[in-house]
Amino acid sequence: MSLEEKLGEMTQLSPNFFGAAESVDLTGPMQQMNLKSEDVPLLGSTLNAFGAENIIEMQKRHMERQPHHIPMLFMADVIHGLKTVYPIPLAMGCSFDTGLMEESAAMAAREAAATGVQLTFSPMCDLVRDPRWGRVMESPGEDPLLIARMTAATVKGYQGDDMSAPDRIASCFKHFGGYGGSEGGRDYNTVDISDGMLREFYLDGYKAAVDAGAAMGMTSFNTIDRIPATGSKKLYRKILRDEWGFDGVAITDFDAVNEMIPHGLAAGGKEAAKYALEAGVDIEMMSTHILNYGKELVRSGEVDEKLIDEAVWRILSLKNRLGLFENPFKGADAGKEKEVCQCDAHMALARKAAARCVVLLKNEGKILPLQKGAKLGLAGPFADSLSVLGGWSITATGGNSTLLRGLQMHGAEVKTAMAEELKPMQMGFFDVSDQTAELDSLADCEIVVAAVGEHPDDTGESASRTILRLSHNQEKMLEKLHDMGKKVVAVVFSGRPLELKPVLPFCDAVVQAWFLGSEAGAGIGDVLFGDVNPSARLSMSFPQTVGQVPVYYNHMNTGRPVVGKPHRFVSCYLDCPNEPLYPFGYGLSYSEYAYSNLRVEKTEGGLPLQVSVDVENTSKVAGRETVQLYIRDVAASCVRPVKELKDFVQVDLAPGEKKTVSFTVTTEMLSFWNNEAFVFEHGDFVIMAGHSSDEVLSETVTL
Ligand code: BGC
Repeated sequence: MSLEEKLGEMTQLSPNFFGAAESVDLTGPMQQMNLKSEDVPLLGSTLNAFGAENIIEMQKRHMERQPHHIPMLFMADVIHGLKTVYPIPLAMGCSFDTGLMEESAAMAAREAAATGVQLTFSPMCDLVRDPRWGRVMESPGEDPLLIARMTAATVKGYQGDDMSAPDRIASCFKHFGGYGGSEGGRDYNTVDISDGMLREFYLDGYKAAVDAGAAMGMTSFNTIDRIPATGSKKLYRKILRDEWGFDGVAITDFDAVNEMIPHGLAAGGKEAAKYALEAGVDIEMMSTHILNYGKELVRSGEVDEKLIDEAVWRILSLKNRLGLFENPFKGADAGKEKEVCQCDAHMALARKAAARCVVLLKNEGKILPLQKGAKLGLAGPFADSLSVLGGWSITATGGNSTLLRGLQMHGAEVKTAMAEELKPMQMGFFDVSDQTAELDSLADCEIVVAAVGEHPDDTGESASRTILRLSHNQEKMLEKLHDMGKKVVAVVFSGRPLELKPVLPFCDAVVQAWFLGSEAGAGIGDVLFGDVNPSARLSMSFPQTVGQVPVYYNHMNTGRPVVGKPHRFVSCYLDCPNEPLYPFGYGLSYSEYAYSNLRVEKTEGGLPLQVSVDVENTSKVAGRETVQLYIRDVAASCVRPVKELKDFVQVDLAPGEKKTVSFTVTTEMLSFWNNEAFVFEHGDFVIMAGHSSDEVLSETVTL
């Protein structure tokens, strides 16, 4: 290949550059590409082209013109399903169900592959602690272990054992690294996290993707150690390649090479290209500095051509692993596309997943589950809304079942009021109109389901918020329903933890419904009427107020922790507790569970430890309990978090049934980053097991 051909292979542009008919909206700014017509046939990949016929046609045209007939690689954002949409990743995190995650990703792969997509820009494994950041919806949450397990399951679901199979696609983890730490929760903002924080918290998800065999990794927009990730040798050469042995492809995020200029790292495009190449970027997405300046950089000796050869080798190896040299269309098949997209089996899985991700936050007086055939009022902007898929559902056309339909499916007689839908803040709308007078028509309904939340377009990329309360008229609606003497069941649709404290006094029950995808309404109905006993747990803490943010369970202690009642000169707020409103791991069910008999047994020499705990379903309802194991390293050469999730197990318990759940705690699980390496240090460890991060039995062991 000539140098020009290699540089083309390393460049990715959107389908419109190839004269494609079908394309979705771009997710970033369009730069001046300085593209010459002879460059186009050399481009190695494209993003977000969909439709089997369209992709087959594009590929044919491309291969005819590519000098060596090298097929183009079709990549896309298939984030939580393609046509059949499953819950947003933050909600999937709440399921704590890695099997369900893998199955859902496999379903997405089946649909995407049939439509011609060969690689998805997923999973997103950024650790998230700040609900002001709109992209928390794309992550499995705030805990490194939960993110790592969900990430591995997602990669496995997409790629299977052989990513060249017609119903599999390659997977790209993102955004490496530390994108979730953006200051103030403002998207694309500076990230400044210590090496210890990075190593122990933020990197685990990406590492899990690498270990699971993900084919590609994507850079992030943020800085790390004051260097934009796309130009960071520490991240890409040192950690990703040298330490983790990743031999897949590194792609930039949208326009991220170019963005090293406004960041202030590179003075111009040539310097930006040099930084990217030296860091180890293989594909530049949606800017063309490597293409435009690569030749000059090599000819002048500023960049070794070897770097370019290595990058192109990795890209071609990926095309080879996908089987594109044998079959450049891979799974693209218009007939299959019709057959699998939203087929019955996929919709059934979407419904099951939706129900498994609903988190029951409050259930006073056990108002839930509702009686079948109940007479219900239904109010609020999500009462009969199909806008329940959640951000990044870029090719899906709307939900299949609204909440109203979900209630009616269970025989409820429903009367609606004040059901005007929200419009996005992105378009300048901040509230629904005040139609609280309409609520009087619900006077004869004893129970009112209030479907409240935020618009799905106000979550996801570039959707940061500073106020996390429900809009004024939604809060007013809840207050009025309460004043009318109604039993209020609030169902909250959101892509992030909202500030629910102000409305808790007006609600008898609160159900966190996130954005649950194609079968959101049916899945929520299944939970509200008790066909499915809620088992999900929060993957991210809910703040009492936005002023507490970031608030997360696995924080460090201070030298002045609050013990007992807060008083002067301890680390606390004057106007709010330190604890979140609802912590990580929290979630109610229609069953009740009792924990007892925590046992911690050392093996000879101390480790591994055998930990077991008894859990009993003390209710009359069968349920699924997520038993969580936490540890605390009491004193070490670097301070350790007050609690860290180390394992979890899901058990199904019949009414009255008791099971013993066992865990093995290894040296590796007790190791930490001492600013040079992962080490284990002897000392006291608190071993905790229980229902949630703030509800555990504990025992201390000396090792
Ligand atoms: C996002 C990525 C996404 C890419 C391609 C970017 O703006 O940050 O997550 O994969 O666009 O659409």
